[in-house]
Amino acid sequence: MSIHIAAQKGDIADKILLPGDPLRAKFIAENFLENPVLFNEIRNMFGYTGTYKGERVSVMGTGMGMPSISIYAHELITEYDVKKLIRVGTAGSLSKDVHVRELVLAQAAATTSRIIQNDWPEYDLPQIADFDLLDTAYHIAKDMGVTTHVGNVLSADLFYSDLFDKNIKLGTMGVKAVEMEAAALYYLAAKHQVQALSLMTISDSLVLDEDTTAEEREKTFTDMMQVGLETLIA
Ligand code: HPA
Repeated sequence: MSIHIAAQKGDIADKILLPGDPLRAKFIAENFLENPVLFNEIRNMFGYTGTYKGERVSVMGTGMGMPSISIYAHELITEYDVKKLIRVGTAGSLSKDVHVRELVLAQAAATTSRIIQNDWPEYDLPQIADFDLLDTAYHIAKDMGVTTHVGNVLSADLFYSDLFDKNIKLGTMGVKAVEMEAAALYYLAAKHQVQALSLMTISDSLVLDEDTTAEEREKTFTDMMQVGLETLIA
């Protein structure tokens, strides 16, 4: 057991899907995995291991923001030997070409966080997705007919930020969306030489007046979960 995860070594698969919301982890386990077994309840950050199409896969919540996902990703990688981590989350669109309910694959993540700069003050180190996971997810999503965008995203420290106008300007430079976790996940994956990818469905737009119903959100989240799971076992 690690500080924040109650599992024994071996209870967690080497491939994991990481939604921010622990109840979404429960949803994925109950709707997509065969024989899911709960391995963590500390802080209600539910984690399950089961099989998907016969392959052992885990799913666990991470909470919101880079400090929270960093705790769970670090422990999953260093204490439980997880090798493939795919985040499935939501993001706000920064581009007029990226609409609510569409899928974004974060090829790279810029960040307002100092997490990486604290370790590497002399460098401006790009945080990038694992190319094999990115390539696999892209083709799976395309084959499923999901409208998919690939590019840079912004991992922000604050949801309610004074940088709103500047974030929108980033959108004009090809940054597809803003979220709060990808850069830290990619940094930890690079640090520990494991594979990571962030998938996000657009839940809101900062540049267009678009909205989405709970039912529509559910459907697109379901597509994203399937893309994530198929990529993990590919
Ligand atoms: N900002 C940051 N994170 C998000 C957003 C947003 O607008 N939407 C979903 N996650």
